[in-house]
Amino acid sequence: MESIIELKQVSKLFKNKTAVDQISLSFQKGEVVAILGPNGAGKTTTMMMMLGLLEPTDGIVQLFGKHPKEKSVREKIGALLQEVSVIDALKVREILQLFRSYYSHPLSYEELVVFTGFSKDELQKRANKLSGGQKRRLGFALAMAGNPDVLFFDEPTVGMDVTARKLFWNTINELKNRGKTIIFTTHYLQEADDSAERIILFHEGKVIGDGTPRNIKTTLLKQSISFTAKSTIHFEDLKTVQNVTDAFEKDGRIYVITDKIDEVLTDLYKVGFPLQNIEIDRGRLEDAFEQLVENREAI
Ligand SMILES: Nc1ncnc2c1ncn2[C@@H]1O[C@H](COP(=O)(O)OP(=O)(O)OP(=O)(O)O)[C@@H](O)[C@H]1O
Ligand SMILES: [Mg+2]
Repeated sequence: MESIIELKQVSKLFKNKTAVDQISLSFQKGEVVAILGPNGAGKTTTMMMMLGLLEPTDGIVQLFGKHPKEKSVREKIGALLQEVSVIDALKVREILQLFRSYYSHPLSYEELVVFTGFSKDELQKRANKLSGGQKRRLGFALAMAGNPDVLFFDEPTVGMDVTARKLFWNTINELKNRGKTIIFTTHYLQEADDSAERIILFHEGKVIGDGTPRNIKTTLLKQSISFTAKSTIHFEDLKTVQNVTDAFEKDGRIYVITDKIDEVLTDLYKVGFPLQNIEIDRGRLEDAFEQLVENREAI
């Protein structure tokens, strides 16, 4: 795999506030990566440094082995930032054409329109007459106009309706199939789980988790096996089974908490516990995220 973005020991201080705290990350060509984290975690600041729009206070950010501001790098990247400002007096159609003209190998106008779902009416609208969601879609179009290799999206779907959101993720899939590298931030954990192959968790300027959605889930989640018992089971006996971290009863079912579901299930059978109506809950990313943040705060 080819690493195209490198952050080495990167920090960003705003006056006395450490927004990003010594993070090191690398991104491979063709990866789709979600950056998740609560408000103020440092997601936007990190993205702005990757785009060369903010200089790190400390550490090194490189894209394609170069400073992100270099012309050869800028030509390869596109971005949709949290705040989109566009040339208000122009019509959507004109803005799309203008932005395409900045690049040597832009996406075709027709393709841009298909990807963003702009209707004939919308293309004739002036940018300052667009709704919030339409502005977001215009921002998305501008990010893609140059047909860049790497795309950055900061909370891309905020304000989009269900149709626009669906189209956005379909387009992301299409861009992924074309080998693009895509990095996005989101507060929608489901979006990260559905669309990214890698999730990076930010909290208070630090990276506190980095892996596949499954990976993040299995390492972080409290997974459980639950069942009803054919005859009496003593919790103390359950708790002595290897890899069981807790056991309790809730709503007439017995729950065994473990991060090693398969091993524990095998052992429960081996020992001969009278189990029936077994259910396995591998938990949800949403819970994992909350759990992780809570645990960090407890430290
Ligand atoms: N220009 C700035 N001047 C001073 N402080 C800033 C500036 N930009 C960001 N910060 C602070 O840095 C921290 C990280 O902000 P950042 O915007 O990176 O967070 P975020 O993870 O993108 O949050 P959100 O989910 O709300 O978008 C916050 O505490 C924020 O107040
Ligand atoms: Mg942000």
